[in-house]
Amino acid sequence: MMKHIEEVKNNLQDEIKLVTTLKDADQLKIKYLGRKGIINDLMRIIPTIPSDQRASFGQQINSLKVEITNIIEELIKKFSSETVPKAKKEIFDVTLPGKHPFVGKRHPLTQTIDDIKEVFARLGFDVAYGPEVESEYYNFEALNIPADHPSRTDFDTFYIKNDVLLRSQTSTVQIRIMEKQKPPIRIIAPGRVYRPDTVDARHSFMFHQVEGLLVDEGVSFADLKGVLNQFIKTYFGQNVQMRLRPSFFPFTEPSAEVDISCSICGGNGCSVCSYSGWVEILGAGMVDPNVFKAVHYDAEKYTGFAFGMGVERITMLKYGINDIRLFYENDMRFLSQF
Ligand code: DAH
Repeated sequence: MMKHIEEVKNNLQDEIKLVTTLKDADQLKIKYLGRKGIINDLMRIIPTIPSDQRASFGQQINSLKVEITNIIEELIKKFSSETVPKAKKEIFDVTLPGKHPFVGKRHPLTQTIDDIKEVFARLGFDVAYGPEVESEYYNFEALNIPADHPSRTDFDTFYIKNDVLLRSQTSTVQIRIMEKQKPPIRIIAPGRVYRPDTVDARHSFMFHQVEGLLVDEGVSFADLKGVLNQFIKTYFGQNVQMRLRPSFFPFTEPSAEVDISCSICGGNGCSVCSYSGWVEILGAGMVDPNVFKAVHYDAEKYTGFAFGMGVERITMLKYGINDIRLFYENDMRFLSQF
């Protein structure tokens, strides 16, 4: 019997030399210590042994088992630490705050245009677009601004060549839509416009406007007031007041400039509103019959109103921005605030 135990020990010594991986070590464990392993085989012989030798044999198997267990566990430990050094290196602190993924945002001007679109969509207005490169006809003539009209100087314009220019107002889209569609018409037209202005805190050679046009039978100035009031209260807030001042635009008669109570100081007076409590936000009026004539609409049958607003100006008033150039510099410190 003793011989048996010695043999097992010797075999194990030989086999240990062949172990080179964690898998080898695991297999060795099963071979010696598993349910059908060598140690259990030895245990099974115990009942067949003469009773006076049984106890000492049993003890020897037990100490053999402990010895083999230690050796094999040592091997397993050795190879598992060798096979997972990567995991060890990658230990990290799960309590550290994570990195926020960068989420893109709409440009503030895009947001304003989207907000305006949404308010007017609820009032039944479609969105229309027109070209930025235009002819004099759409930018001026059809809008009742003939070549010798003094107001052309108000719309100083970038010319590309003779009759081709960069539109200086989105009112051009009024004409393009009315040429294509019959009343009723109810559109807003957002887009870029260009004017050769010297760049400063309030001026840019390119900026954005949103034009509005509604034409139908029996449209009155009261409808214009109602729609603008609805827009202003929804966009700037219920407490903001609106007032209309008589004005002049060649394409509308009568015309008005629309002011709101200063959204920065609440109407008390500040540098933004020149201490008047009011700021101008848009021009508007009833469509001039000459404009209807240009698009062959019956001015006896139809009336309509139009309005135009500057997107930069509205955004600046809403968020208290004091320099228009911030919109075009794409400085993330500015943009990420919206
Ligand atoms: N087109 C004008 C401008 O650029 C704004 C404007 C005023 C548009 C009155 C209109 C309007 O439709 O009725 O200054």
